[in-house]
Amino acid sequence: MHHPTIILGAGAAGLMAAAHAGPGTLVIDHAKAPGEKIRISGGGRCNFTNLYAGPENFLSENPHFCKSALARYTQWDFIDLVGRHGIPWHEKVLGQLFCDTSAKDVIAMLLAEMRRAGAEMRLQAEVQEVAHGPEGFTLTTGAGVLTCDSLVIATGGKSIPKMGASGFAYRVAEQFGHRVTETRPALVPLTFGPDVLSLTKPLAGVSLPARVACGATSFEEALLFTHRGLSGPAILQISSYWRETKPISVDLLPGTDALAALKEARRANGRRAVGTALAELLPTRLAAGWAEAQGLTGQLANTPDARLAEVARGLQDWQLTPAGTEGYRTAEVTLGGVATDGLDSRTMESKRVPGLYFIGEGVDVTGWLGGYNFQWAWSSGWAAGTAI
Ligand code: FDA
Repeated sequence: MHHPTIILGAGAAGLMAAAHAGPGTLVIDHAKAPGEKIRISGGGRCNFTNLYAGPENFLSENPHFCKSALARYTQWDFIDLVGRHGIPWHEKVLGQLFCDTSAKDVIAMLLAEMRRAGAEMRLQAEVQEVAHGPEGFTLTTGAGVLTCDSLVIATGGKSIPKMGASGFAYRVAEQFGHRVTETRPALVPLTFGPDVLSLTKPLAGVSLPARVACGATSFEEALLFTHRGLSGPAILQISSYWRETKPISVDLLPGTDALAALKEARRANGRRAVGTALAELLPTRLAAGWAEAQGLTGQLANTPDARLAEVARGLQDWQLTPAGTEGYRTAEVTLGGVATDGLDSRTMESKRVPGLYFIGEGVDVTGWLGGYNFQWAWSSGWAAGTAI
């Protein structure tokens, strides 16, 4: 059966493209339901975009590539779409917009838009082979042989293989002579060796605002102690910049002069234990665990300036070398992907094979945590959909 356009992947990018690619478009997905990652995103409320989304919030071999699509379909365009569908939303923090009720509202909206545009969808359909010839593309699928003039690859990255992530986009890209940049799990918790775990494990569940840095990049967001190491938005953000063997630096008291605070506590009441003073600066469990790990048993009055300075430095420049990440099993996204030099930044069309498009997470454009990855899915999906 022939279709003008076939879109592989009924995720965020694929559904957005389907809403603009014209009647007769067919969307194919091997999953049981469309938009499964949208459904589980943002704790079930989908952080669907960010008020401040801009090219500086994305990692890519070519940081300029995302500019055109982001400028032509912006967060305001998506907010307008959400508004037209009457979906209630709110800003949580840092410009992050979430559904008031459920992420399912966003899926229902995209399906309605897709149907209104005259596109149809086939689920639980595996694509075994893609071929290209003078007649267009030929797909061998579990549901028979299909042909199309334009083929959009919107199958996402490798994160959460349990949900059907397959790396399919990279295989198709390489088949057609595209380069694929190194792919890595990103927005992922970091894991640590036994020395760090002995401190973090008993503190599992403790959360506090922190600044986490790797090289010249830093993020000030929540930090979470877990049984496996460290997580929370600050760690997920820095994980996209971290590389094996590199240390990270954690400031547990961002915006505070810890040394001045400790000296002031000593001046006010020198009989207090150092650990007690720490509890005024940090969550109680962390203060106790930190004091124990550092052997801080004495009173403030008996703690000289040099030792207080050492304690303060430890709190504000806690140097840690992660052992690794939790990997694709829990990564929110895949860093890297189909190299942008092979794609037209206005349309997402392949420069090698006319009619072939790559959109969404499969492309080497990766957003920060905070609604940026969905914005890339909407923007790149719109760019391809309207170009077809
Ligand atoms: P996506 O993964 O959404 O869709 C790909 C589709 O292709 C899937 O439906 C899959 O079944 C299908 N597919 C894959 N291989 C196939 C094959 N071989 N044949 C047929 N179909 C195939 N981002 C954000 O901005 N805000 C947020 O709140 C969150 N929250 C979040 C939570 C969790 C737990 C995760 C894992 C991720 C997020 N993200 C996020 C990231 C966001 O989900 C992600 O960036 C987008 O879903 C990417 O959209 P795509 O359409 O590119 O891929």
